[in-house]
Parts: sequence; structure tokens; C-alpha cells
Amino acid sequence: MKRIAVLASGRGTNLEAILEAVESGHIAGEVAVAISDQEKALALQRAENRGVKALFMNPKDYGGREQYDRAIVEQLKEDQVDLVVLAGFMRLLTAYFIQAYPLAIMNIHPSLLPAFPGLDGVEQALNYGVKITGCTVHFVDEGLDTGPVILQEAVPIIQEDTVETLHQRIHASEHRLYPTAIDLFCKEKLKVEGRRCMIID
Ligand code: GRF
Repeated sequence: MKRIAVLASGRGTNLEAILEAVESGHIAGEVAVAISDQEKALALQRAENRGVKALFMNPKDYGGREQYDRAIVEQLKEDQVDLVVLAGFMRLLTAYFIQAYPLAIMNIHPSLLPAFPGLDGVEQALNYGVKITGCTVHFVDEGLDTGPVILQEAVPIIQEDTVETLHQRIHASEHRLYPTAIDLFCKEKLKVEGRRCMIID
């Protein structure tokens, strides 16, 4: 059984979807720990409510970005984590962290990468005027939203959309896509060749 850590800074609706998928057997793994850099993150509350270990790790308690990441990696090792899942974790990981978990850190981004990386992927797509956007689950490398793409789902933009309504539909799509990608990882069905991530039987 793969052991998963979820890192989240905010509302944690993706974390909730992942915890639900674990409970209902749609993810062949277990969430060992949820970690947040925000003490008041609803994400931590959601983990606790489901009896999952939830830790607030305050970046201010550490000397800098790398020291903070070293502390997280230490915690992940202690919890024997196989897969790190970023779910609205609003910090860039240092090379140290990424190299500690090669091809074992996932992120979800609210656009069809490589379009609209970085902050405000939803707003960027809306303002650009594209008719189709969506969400992307990818492995994390040292760039910003640049790692190999695992799964994507398209979400059409309708004329009446605001950032809020569009984000809502993208969220719904994320809640399907992320558990699916995590389950594939747990079943060792993902294989990366160069930039291409294959699903193997
Ligand atoms: C999601 O939209 C995700 O794409 C982005 O951060 C948001 C997290 O939302 N990386 P939530 O905290 O899971 O509700």
C-alpha cells in the first residue's frame, strides 16, 4: 500500500476528494499525513475530521526556504511517504525537495498546461478568451508547472462565465482527475519516458 502525503495551503477541496477516494477504495493507497504552511487552513481541519494526521509547519520557524523544505522532507521520511501530492500548496519547492522525491511529487494546475502556468490559471484563460481550458495533473520538476503531464481534462468556457463559475467547474473536474492520477501511481501504472508519461497495464 503506497503512503501518500498531501500538502495544502487553503480550502483543501482536492484533499477532501482524495480522502473520500481513499475511503471508498478508489485510491489503492493511504494518506499518511496532511501538511500545511497555514495554521488556519481548512485543509488541516478536513484531514483531522477524517482521522488523518494533520500538521501545521510554520515557514517562519525555519531559516529559509531550503531549511523549511528539509524539515518537510524529514517529516515525510519519518512517515514513510511514497508519494507527495500538492493540492493548492502555495509555495515553490526547492531543488532539495524535488530531488528527494524524483517523479514522486504531483501537482494539479487549473489550466491545460503548458497554457497559463503560474498563479491565476483560471483568470488567465478567461481573459485570454480561449474557449476550452481545464486542469492538468503533472509530476513536479524544478520549473514552474513544467513537469511531465500525467492526466488532463478539458472544461469548456461559456460566454456567461466569471472567474468564480469557471473555477467551480474546473474544481469539479480536478476532484475527478486527481484521485485517478494518484490511484494510477499507487498501482505503479505510470511510466515516464522523457517528457511523456505513459499508462501501462
Ligand atoms: C486548485 O484549483 C488547484 O488547481 C490549485 O489550487 C487549487 C486548490 O484548491 N493548484 P483546493 O484547496 O483543493 O480547494
